[in-house]
Amino acid sequence: MSTPSGSDAASGPAPRRRARRWWIAALAAVLVAGGAVVAGVLEHRAWVEAVAEYEAEVARVTAAADTSRDRAEEAYAASADALDEAVDGGRPVLDASEGQVSGPAVRRSLAEALDRAEDLRDAEVTYPVATLTVDEVTRPNPFRPETLPQVEVEVVDRSDPAPAELDAAATEVTEATGAVVEARRRWAFEELQAATTEGRDALTDLRSQVDDGALDELDAAVTDGEAMLDAGADAVDADDAVSLRDTLLGTTESLWADRLDQIVRERRQAARDDGVDCRRDRCVALTFDDGPAASTERLLRILARKDAPATFFMVGDNVARRPEIARAVVDGGHLVANHTWNHPQLTGLDDAEVRDELRRTQDAVTDATGFTPFLLRPPYGDVDGRVRSISTRTGLDVVLWSLDSRDWESRDAREIRRRVRAEVEPGSNILLHDIHATSVDAVPKIIDDLRDEDYVLVTAELLVDRDEP
Ligand code: NI
Repeated sequence: MSTPSGSDAASGPAPRRRARRWWIAALAAVLVAGGAVVAGVLEHRAWVEAVAEYEAEVARVTAAADTSRDRAEEAYAASADALDEAVDGGRPVLDASEGQVSGPAVRRSLAEALDRAEDLRDAEVTYPVATLTVDEVTRPNPFRPETLPQVEVEVVDRSDPAPAELDAAATEVTEATGAVVEARRRWAFEELQAATTEGRDALTDLRSQVDDGALDELDAAVTDGEAMLDAGADAVDADDAVSLRDTLLGTTESLWADRLDQIVRERRQAARDDGVDCRRDRCVALTFDDGPAASTERLLRILARKDAPATFFMVGDNVARRPEIARAVVDGGHLVANHTWNHPQLTGLDDAEVRDELRRTQDAVTDATGFTPFLLRPPYGDVDGRVRSISTRTGLDVVLWSLDSRDWESRDAREIRRRVRAEVEPGSNILLHDIHATSVDAVPKIIDDLRDEDYVLVTAELLVDRDEP
């Protein structure tokens, strides 16, 4: 076969092909037009949405600007009120806990938190202004160009200091307050424990010495204290515990003060009945501190030979080591008194330690001699109101001295004697130490000197101010 197709194409179906081209062109035109319409509709719809979004945003931002300052002020005020409340709760707790917690750190934390809170509360508050922006919107349609402008609105969206800072400070104060309340409760419980023990000991000690009725108030307070302690440290109200402690200690102190007055009164009366009246006589007391020691026995022989009474302020630890010498002192007719357990500076000790120094010595002397001291000489004369109060509550009157022989310094019998003779006067309470042999050596001549001057040797509690009635 030849190839007729070329001539077929040129001649046979030509009109039909032309018609098909036209049809295709028309279809294409319709399609383009339709596409343009659809695109236009879609573009319009997108633009309308964009405009709505823009307007909503402008409305939102404007509304926010209108109320923003009020809201910031309200938020600040609410946090400031909460902070005030925390400070008002914490400050009285800090004040009331002065000296009423064991460690200082817990109160210091509260004090610092309160200071910070108050500084923050007093700081001037400002409301910084920020600018909110709604961006411009441009219609991309080249046939209908349109632009919605950028909108800027000023708003207050916070305060300085911020509420969150105030809230944090309030939380800090509240937590520190809680810690102090808790620490004070524990402290009060321990104080009540110690005071109840003191009260109970005083009841035991005084039961045989005073009329029963006098102990009723203390008895009731001890019962209350025991009940409060039984409820446990978590249940105790700190104020109630402190108040009951004060009642216990106050009652104990006043009962013992009365009893000590009575002891001294009775002993002075007994001395007068024996012909010694220090309101009239030239009384002096020889007092010996820090024993009993080995040299005490020789001193006792000297005093017995001279028939001279003396007062021995004994260190409890030495009494426990040499109970037989303590016993011999009492048997010799002398007065035994308390000079603490191991000779510390009492004002440097806490209440419990002071009490322990005194009570252990009382017990040691009582065990060794059957006699319970009623005089205390604090080592180094170191005493203050607190130590005096504890001393009274332990059944001890504080006695210092008026003439220091300085025997511990000179260690020279002649010098000791010279100083006593030079400085003595009626009512002198003469300080010596029986732990030094040189002091003991000086005693016979001192006694002779004093008697030559018509002094009367007595035990320390009999000395009175000669102006006393
Ligand atoms: Ni001493």
